[in-house]
Amino acid sequence: MPAVVVVGMQWGDEGKGKVIDFLAEGAAWTVRFQGGANAGHTIHFGGARFALHLLPSGAVRAGVRCGLGWGMVIDPGRLLEEIEALEARGISVRDRILVSGRATLLLPHHAARDRAEEAARTGTPIGTTGRGIGPAYESRAARAALLLADLAEPDGEEKLRIVHESTNERLSASGAEPIAWEPLLASWRRWRAEIVPLLGDLSGAIEVALARGERVLFEGAQGTHLDLYAGTYPFVTSSSTLAAGACAGCGIGPTRIERVIGVAKAYATRVGAGPFPTEATAEEGARLRERGSERGTTTGRPRRCGWLDIPMLRAAVRWNGISGIALTKADVLSGRKTVPVAVAYDLDGERIAHPPLSPSALARVRPVFEEWPGWETIPPNASRVEDLPPNLVRYAERIASSVGAPIVLLSTGPAREQTVACTIGTSAD
Ligand code: IMP
Repeated sequence: MPAVVVVGMQWGDEGKGKVIDFLAEGAAWTVRFQGGANAGHTIHFGGARFALHLLPSGAVRAGVRCGLGWGMVIDPGRLLEEIEALEARGISVRDRILVSGRATLLLPHHAARDRAEEAARTGTPIGTTGRGIGPAYESRAARAALLLADLAEPDGEEKLRIVHESTNERLSASGAEPIAWEPLLASWRRWRAEIVPLLGDLSGAIEVALARGERVLFEGAQGTHLDLYAGTYPFVTSSSTLAAGACAGCGIGPTRIERVIGVAKAYATRVGAGPFPTEATAEEGARLRERGSERGTTTGRPRRCGWLDIPMLRAAVRWNGISGIALTKADVLSGRKTVPVAVAYDLDGERIAHPPLSPSALARVRPVFEEWPGWETIPPNASRVEDLPPNLVRYAERIASSVGAPIVLLSTGPAREQTVACTIGTSAD
C-alpha cells in the first residue's frame, strides 16, 4: 500500500503518533500536511517517551524520511529545537528532513496575537494552544504571510521588515507587547543558515518515492472534528485536518491515495472548549483522565473525557473515506462491567444518526446511550485477536458495523509491541 493517510476521527489525541510509528516500519517517508506546533504526537519506544510537535512521527525511526508539507504553518525556531532535542538523544534527523519551501512561516507575532486574542475572548474562549496557528493561517489567507522559501531569497530581510511592521500594528491593536526587531533579525539569520538546507520540493520527492513503489505515510494532526470546515465550528483549528488535506497540503493528487486509516480512541476526549455530546460526569471523567493519563502533550492541559460517540465516528468515516480503523487505548476501559456508547443523538425529540451541521443544534443534542458489555484485563503480550478478551472483540465488531469500516489495528497499551493487527467487522448495519 504505497500512499496511506492516517487521520484522527475525534478531536485529536487519539493516539495517532503510536499508530503512525507502528505503520512506519518499512515506510520510506512520513509526512505532515497541515497544522503546526499545536500538534503533540507521543511515541514510546526503548523505554523512552518522545513528544513531537512539528516533525512527523517517522523522525524517531532511523532511515525514514520526514516531510513537512506546504499546508503547514512552521515556526522555524521550534523546528530547530525539536531537531536538537532528538540529536541530544542520539537520533540524527537533519539529513532525513525535507520541508516544502511553500509552507507558511509562523512568526513570534502570530503566537503573541493568538494568546492576546484568546485572552480577549472572555465569554467564549476557543482554548487554543497559543502556538499562533490561527493568526498564521489568517496571514496566509490574507496573502500577507512569509513563506519558508523567503528565508533563502536576497530580499528576504526586507520582506521580513515589512511584515514585522504591519503585524506589530495588529499585535498592538490586540493589546499585546510588540515584538522587538533586532532579536527577530538575529533569529531570521539563524533560520536562514539552518533551515534553508532543509527546504526543497516535497511534492516532487513524494512522486519519485511513489513511482518506485515505496510506502509514504501522510500523518494528520488534530482530528476530524477540529477541521476548519467539517469540525465543531468555531471550536476548531484553522487547517483542514481531513484526509483530503494530505493532497492539498503536500501537492499530491487524490488518485495517488490508496488507503485512509482513521484512528479512534475506545472512548472520547477533547481539549479546549466546544460541544462534546458524550462528555462524562465529573467523577467518571476524572476516572478516565487518571487511567488514560489524559493531559495535553502540547499544553499539559487536562483533557475533557467522555464516551465513544458513534455519530461522530460515522461522520469521520464518510468525510475522510476511511478504509480501516485503528482503535486505541482499549486497555483504559478494562475491568468495567459495561461501557456506555452513544449510538445516536436526540435532537429536539428526533433521533438522528449523524451530527447536525449547525453548531447550535450540535450543542443541543442529547446522546442516546447503550451499555455495551465490558472486558477484563488485556493480556500484556496479546499479539493476535484470539489473545484479546472476547467482549473487547465484540466491542470492536459493534463499532465497525455501526460506522461502516473494519477495525484493522487494536492498540492495547503505549508500547510499539502492544498492537494487534486484525480485521474485525467489515460492513455497515
Ligand atoms: P489551535 O489549533 O491552537 O488554534 O487550537 C484550536 C482548538 O484545537 C483548541 O480547542 C485546541 O485545544 C485544539 N487543538 C489544537 N491542536 C490539537 C491537538 O493536537 N490535539 C487536540 N486538540 C488540539
